[in-house]
Amino acid sequence: MYISEELKANCIAIDKKINECLYFIYMVAMKTNCSLLLVDLIVWFLLLGNVLSNDYTTFKKLVLPPSVTGPESAVFDRGGEGPYVAVADGRILKWQGPTTGFLDFAFTSPNRLCYFVSCFQPQLSLSVSTTKNICDGTNDLKLGPICGRPVALSFNYKTSDLYITDAFFGLLVVGFNGGLATQLSGGYKYLSGIDVESYTGNVYLTDASLTYGIRDMTKPGFKPDSTGRLLKYDPRTQRVTVLLTGLSGVGGPSVSSDRKYVLVPEYMNNQIQRHWLQGPKKDTNEVFLTDCGSPKNIKRAANDGEFWVAVEKLVQQSPVSSEPHGLRVNGSATVLQTVPLPQFLNMAHNVVQESNDALYVGSSHSDFVGVYTN
Ligand SMILES: *[C@@H]1O[C@H](CO)[C@@H](O)[C@H](O)[C@H]1NC(C)=O
Repeated sequence: MYISEELKANCIAIDKKINECLYFIYMVAMKTNCSLLLVDLIVWFLLLGNVLSNDYTTFKKLVLPPSVTGPESAVFDRGGEGPYVAVADGRILKWQGPTTGFLDFAFTSPNRLCYFVSCFQPQLSLSVSTTKNICDGTNDLKLGPICGRPVALSFNYKTSDLYITDAFFGLLVVGFNGGLATQLSGGYKYLSGIDVESYTGNVYLTDASLTYGIRDMTKPGFKPDSTGRLLKYDPRTQRVTVLLTGLSGVGGPSVSSDRKYVLVPEYMNNQIQRHWLQGPKKDTNEVFLTDCGSPKNIKRAANDGEFWVAVEKLVQQSPVSSEPHGLRVNGSATVLQTVPLPQFLNMAHNVVQESNDALYVGSSHSDFVGVYTN
């Protein structure tokens, strides 16, 4: 009996669904009458591969250019290229492999096209000649209105358009050639999370607050209020509608792979809500998960119907101490896997993005994208 490397790899990858693999081998064995010993050996191989390939303990860094920080998002295009990251200085960078590193892909602020000081508001009294010089590498939020601060990214995989939320410029979109993004909707205090549902093209957004912006969050004693919202942008009507209000510390949302619902994390309330988009519960909300720690961001996992949730998990009551983890959960809110992310301790707002059997982790405080593999 011959079982190709490809089949083995597939069996391991299709989320380690051991039973399916065993069943498949059993069927092949039945057809070819191969010896039981050989079947045993292959089963053993797959089990071993499965155990070894599921713990994400190998870590490496994709390092950002000098003095660039804050990759709060790490997404891949439909060709699997990337990650694309939104960084604190207003750019969206694309990983070009280890020899080249990250290069400019897009930006959100039209001010970044300026070449002369006259472009700027006079009160900033800037003396450098191009905005790129001023902006690149900065993490000064005072420059946000000039440089932009893209926060979250999501591709429409049908059109290859990249949708962007920016803390100063609202919702934007840029084509696969990059460059200056086009604003689709503005006037928000702080748009934070985003997820594009590629089938309809609908864009799900989270608006952190009606009262505070990203610059308020760094002030001493700041506490998020409960005015966060889940919004939907419909590209056909170009209208934004409100789906959910009263959210406290809302992070990045995620639409389920069957498009029936969207999950919305609230890190101040330590819970995830589910807003139904289809079916008998359409337009209603329910609490999806509560005892998972403080959830920051949710992304669809490679397995259909599953998600990765970036959480801060309480590990000690007094003194209070929490650690970042990635949780893999399914549509029944069962936690299937917990992966510690020790390299992101005290780095706030993480995102966990699965791609090609690896977990890509970004953070508002890091100068790298972390890659966890087996
Ligand atoms: C989630 O996982 C649990 C445990 O494996 C399982 O019982 C449940 O059916 C799963 N739910 C879905 C929707 O797949």
